[in-house]
Amino acid sequence: MKIILVAGARPNFMKIAPIMEEMRKDNEFKPLLVHTGQHYDENMSKIFFDELEIPKPDINLEVGSGTHAWQTAEIMKRFEQVLIDEKTDLVMVVGDTNSTLACSLTAAKTHKKVAHVEAGLRSNNWDMPEEINRVLTDRLSDYLFTTCEDAKENLLKEGIDEKKTYFVGNVMIDTLLKNKQKAEKSRILNDLELEKQNYAVLTLHRPNNVDNEENCKKIFEIIEKIQNLIEIIYPVHPRTRKNIEEFGLTEKINGMKNLKMIEPAGYLDFLRLMSSSKFVMTDSGGIQEETTVLGIPCLTLREETERPVTVTEGWNVVVGLSEKKILDNVGIILKDYWKKGKIPEKWDGKAAERILKILQKVKK
Ligand code: UD1
Repeated sequence: MKIILVAGARPNFMKIAPIMEEMRKDNEFKPLLVHTGQHYDENMSKIFFDELEIPKPDINLEVGSGTHAWQTAEIMKRFEQVLIDEKTDLVMVVGDTNSTLACSLTAAKTHKKVAHVEAGLRSNNWDMPEEINRVLTDRLSDYLFTTCEDAKENLLKEGIDEKKTYFVGNVMIDTLLKNKQKAEKSRILNDLELEKQNYAVLTLHRPNNVDNEENCKKIFEIIEKIQNLIEIIYPVHPRTRKNIEEFGLTEKINGMKNLKMIEPAGYLDFLRLMSSSKFVMTDSGGIQEETTVLGIPCLTLREETERPVTVTEGWNVVVGLSEKKILDNVGIILKDYWKKGKIPEKWDGKAAERILKILQKVKK
């Protein structure tokens, strides 16, 4: 079975790693890895290939940055040529990035079967570019692999045939469980002079939080108060760094003595940072899932989540940008009164294995 596997942006890489690994163990599968080049900085891309032992992509479309329409269209143009050159049975995409949508749309238009890993997640917030990517990719897909039961319900509500859905668990957690021990060796705590449980981690990159000047300023007002209570480590996304300068926040942030801004961290360093922290504040999707498996309190700085299982079962609380709600929750964490979550069903390190078994079955 010749399968074209697509990855393009940082959150895609930890999802393809276990799938690639399983496919390479089995002679029946011939994966061809396509990197769209949506992310291209060393610390947004290459470091993940090295640390997660993902083979070098067979093809790199080198698309780079641009507006949404430009980036999506450019990936489609370049990916169409790949589909012409390479005979394939299936195109497999993961997650919800522009690369995910661009390649699934190109595949569907050229009559290729599409498999979507992490199907059915819905924030129901149409202002998020990722939500548009999720809904459209699912509509274009023939095999929809889900991480949780609510994802399947979302798909059925949209009229997707139940027979196309498969509840397999979470490939991102496959990667986390596999690398947890390895991450213990990371030197990041020493390098940053951190003591376990004595600091918080912050990540921000959602357009609604960091491209919107008012919201961005509001967030840093709140962060200023929190860093008076506990040290905060903040790996800064490239786009957020630009905006901080543009909104004139650099001086204010530099004045926060307990907020340490660092470059985007590699996979192992970041895993180590999260797992030893007191709590995490984030607007990322994947980090809500990872903290739930690590048993670390997570405050999601958004109004909603497409991953509700991390709230109903896990360690996550959605706090939005309400200063009161955020500070109240930080207070609860610092007093050690946080809820104890559990690990959601099938987040057990075997999701990629299940996906391959299903592909073998449907192919016969
Ligand atoms: C993308 C995904 C988002 C994911 C995030 C993780 C979409 C719509 N969004 O958002 O779902 O959570 O990646 O990071 O696909 N840049 C660099 N170096 C890079 C890559 C980007 O400097 O290696 C800068 C560029 O200025 C670029 C900007 O970041 O214009 C945005 O990059 P892009 O990939 O378009 O979107 P993200 O915001 O990273």
